[in-house]
Amino acid sequence: MPPAASPAIIVHGGAGSLGSDDPASSGGADAPRLEGVRRACEAGQAVLRAGGSALDAVETAVRVLEDDPTYNAGTGATLTAAGDVELDASIMDGETLRCGAVAVVKDVRNPVTLARAVMERSQHVLLAGPGASAFAREAGIPPYENALLVTARQRARWEEARAAAAGTGPAGTLPGKKFGTVGAVARDARGHLAAATSTGGMQLKLPGRVGDTPLIGCGTYADDALAAVSCTGHGERIIQLTLARFVADRVGRGATPMDAAREAIAALGRRVRGEGGVIVVGPRGEVGFAHNTPVMSRAWTTPDGDVVAEL
Ligand code: GLY
Repeated sequence: MPPAASPAIIVHGGAGSLGSDDPASSGGADAPRLEGVRRACEAGQAVLRAGGSALDAVETAVRVLEDDPTYNAGTGATLTAAGDVELDASIMDGETLRCGAVAVVKDVRNPVTLARAVMERSQHVLLAGPGASAFAREAGIPPYENALLVTARQRARWEEARAAAAGTGPAGTLPGKKFGTVGAVARDARGHLAAATSTGGMQLKLPGRVGDTPLIGCGTYADDALAAVSCTGHGERIIQLTLARFVADRVGRGATPMDAAREAIAALGRRVRGEGGVIVVGPRGEVGFAHNTPVMSRAWTTPDGDVVAEL
């Protein structure tokens, strides 16, 4: 067990399939996916080592992943059925239970920072669409062109997926169920927890679709008395189980973060045939993770201060 005041952080780069070159999955070209989560974890760890808060650490780590075109969040996000990017993100402070989130944002480079501004500078928890963009300008977050969020690889995948989807089902059918989301959970030296999650959602989603990521208790949750949790996977299924709160509650009732993560992912598969993954940090800095997809890129700090990265 780590010492009482041991800082800890674990990040994920999304649940997905092995052997795919889809940046919305964690599989395929493994090296960039491992390097990216390691870099994000180290950035969060540096914040914690400098005495920074868990909140600062998770925002920093998620911004690194949002700026990395390998992952389905920020730059490199998957495309909607209309062919553009719509971003969702949330953040939660386990000390105060304050939280902020944004959905369907098209013109912000780092939606996790906008979610934090909603938490700290508005009376609200969740802002969506044009209202979220207007608030971003008020908060001093500059506009960012949607086209700059779109990578050539995601555009090519969109073309392929659209061709494959033609005539296969009703509007909103998501062929291939491409997942991908990024997230971070941390415990700082004062014992406070925080969680943050960010995503482009699911490939070919209908414009305006909102998944689990910006919904507190579904994609993200943090409570110093319980745990901090970030989810990845099929948002519609994750929402049905309020998965992040599910995990936090299990830790609150005495499960280790690892056991709580495993129990939640087993329930996700059993109860709603959902696919995805979770990362967790507990009140003493113990980390946990689980996924029922072939892979979920992740990196975490050990009690000795090393960083371990895995798919
Ligand atoms: N888990 C991300 C989403 O479904 O939007």
